[in-house]
Amino acid sequence: MSEVIDLLIHSAHQLCTMPLQDGGPQRGLSLGDLGLIEDGALAIDNSRIVAVGRSDELRAVYEPRTQIDARGSLVTPGLVDPHTHAVWAGERAGEFERRIGGATYQQIMAEGGGINATMQATRSADVDTLIAQSRLRLQRMMQHGATTIEVKTGYGLDTESELNMLRAIAALDAELPVDLVPTFLGAHAIPPEYADDSDEYVSLVVEAMIPAVAAWKAENWPHTLFCDVFCETGAFSLNQTRRILEAAKRHGMDLKVHADEFDALGGTRLGVELGATTIDHLVATPPEEIQALGKSTTVAVSMPPTPFGLGHSEYTPALEFLKADAALAIATDCNPGTAWCESLQFVFALATRYLKLTQGQSLAAATVNAGFAVGRGGEIGTLMPGALGDVVIWQVDDYRYLGYRFGANLVQQVIKRGQTVYRQV
Ligand code: NIG
Ligand code: FE
Repeated sequence: MSEVIDLLIHSAHQLCTMPLQDGGPQRGLSLGDLGLIEDGALAIDNSRIVAVGRSDELRAVYEPRTQIDARGSLVTPGLVDPHTHAVWAGERAGEFERRIGGATYQQIMAEGGGINATMQATRSADVDTLIAQSRLRLQRMMQHGATTIEVKTGYGLDTESELNMLRAIAALDAELPVDLVPTFLGAHAIPPEYADDSDEYVSLVVEAMIPAVAAWKAENWPHTLFCDVFCETGAFSLNQTRRILEAAKRHGMDLKVHADEFDALGGTRLGVELGATTIDHLVATPPEEIQALGKSTTVAVSMPPTPFGLGHSEYTPALEFLKADAALAIATDCNPGTAWCESLQFVFALATRYLKLTQGQSLAAATVNAGFAVGRGGEIGTLMPGALGDVVIWQVDDYRYLGYRFGANLVQQVIKRGQTVYRQV
């Protein structure tokens, strides 16, 4: 007796199911459990995975309306990019030229460039322009394997412009096949009109922006909405970060923190204390805070494109995080300043070389663990039954090509909720 289903992907040379560990992310040195099945098959019905196993077993049980022969291919979950600033207007190619000439990111930021330059362009753009300038970027990220992408605001820095960024993210989520996960990052930089009184700007974030964002969410966004703060020298102090995150928590938002990108201000310890879903960057994190994070349920998110994009040589000490039993995820940080990176495949190339992750660990960090980093653990980033039918079929037949080869797109086909949304011609 065979059961009719929407889609059967079969004969995969390698199928990496990326299982959860005890119902959670793959923690510490257990990172990299691929759940690998040779000659693997995957049954999808009604947008969700119903079974995974060997091809002969599944073909005996299921009668698919559509089937895909994945002979000669690696099959993995759709990738999850848990930290991006992928919606913005304008560009900063001139700043990059200056940085090549020796100017530092912080120097340019202190002169009113950097995030503030993108803020000017973003404030001047209406929602349609923001959508138009971000659409192709998100499509390219999807074509490189991402099926869920977190996107932050943070280039508006006034209430209406921040809400416009959320409107653009929600519209792109509705329009594009990928799922977007919005994060309110009103505390990304201190806008020029508050340059002399950053506490006053923090009051605006706490008293005006967060309530406005919560009201927008109640009307327009039935899923999780995160609040994030750039806790850094020249951005927001530890006390300011606490004020903002506590207010966001009171308004029902889940928390993220940009911490230790350049300087260690205590943002990691604070994020752990407040039960943040993730702490991101983690380059300059002191050993005791690595330990504290490892004992918590907070996911550590590393974005190797950022130091790479800045031409720095310090990366997240990923193995220290793994030894401390942290759950590690990786992301692009796609943004116009430090890391205009649209490909998680390039993140694999950097993570293997500079974070010293294996190919399997890198894949787990951008799938099963990244799902937890956006609050959708078990729902995405894994091919276990019950998860969404988000799948990448690769042009290569072995997971060990990931990170090893770089600079060309190795994706063959992207499937979102059981539907093909991209195919390499
Ligand atoms: O993650 N650290 C803060 N935000 C970004 C940079 C944003 C920008 O320069 O536009 C980052 O590196
Ligand atoms: Fe960032």
